[in-house]
Parts: sequence; structure tokens; C-alpha cells
Amino acid sequence: MTTVTFIFPDGTEKSLQVRPGTNVMDAAVSNDIEGIKANCRGNCACSTCHVYVDNEWLELVGPASGIEEDILDFAPNARPESRLCCQICLSPALNGLRLHIPDWQRWN
Ligand code: FES
Repeated sequence: MTTVTFIFPDGTEKSLQVRPGTNVMDAAVSNDIEGIKANCRGNCACSTCHVYVDNEWLELVGPASGIEEDILDFAPNARPESRLCCQICLSPALNGLRLHIPDWQRWN
């Protein structure tokens, strides 16, 4: 199994154990992670699965694709470490991945 941890704006965390190859958004939605609405269900068209990749994981996760960057332009408070978690697949190399939920997203 692969572990992914979501860190909420108040500093609390929730870790999930998921099968390698699972899409991060699917894992978040199936486990009711607050702040990940995923309105377009992974079609890279809504930005409601926006996360900040923890600095220690940026290189392994890699950059957003061109279309992902276009959608992130619509995400409030996007930063260089922003990704859409529907575009991240949990490979074994990402075991232990840490993702921060943007503050504004928790209430929208
Ligand atoms: Fe809509 Fe990720 S779920 S962009």
C-alpha cells in the first residue's frame, strides 16, 4: 500500500493507505477529505482538487502539465507548488507523499 497524507489549514493531518496506481483525487473523495470537491471528477476542468505539494515532494511529483497549468490559473491562491490532485497517480515512489489543502478551499 501507499501512504498519502493530507494536511489541513489548521495543521491537522489525515493519512490514507491506498493501492499504488490510485489517483490522489479518487483516494481523497472516497475518504471524504474535506476541501477536495473534485467537481469535474478528474477531467482536469475545475480546480476544486487543488493541493499544495509539500516542498520535500516537489521534485518527485513533478510539474503540472500545460493543460493543468491552464486550469490552475483559475484556482484562487495558486502557487508554484500547486497541483491538481486528480493529475497525480500514487506510484510506489510517492509512498509518504504529503499534500496541503488550500485554506480557501475548505470553505467553498
Ligand atoms: Fe476537476 Fe481535478 S477534479 S480538475
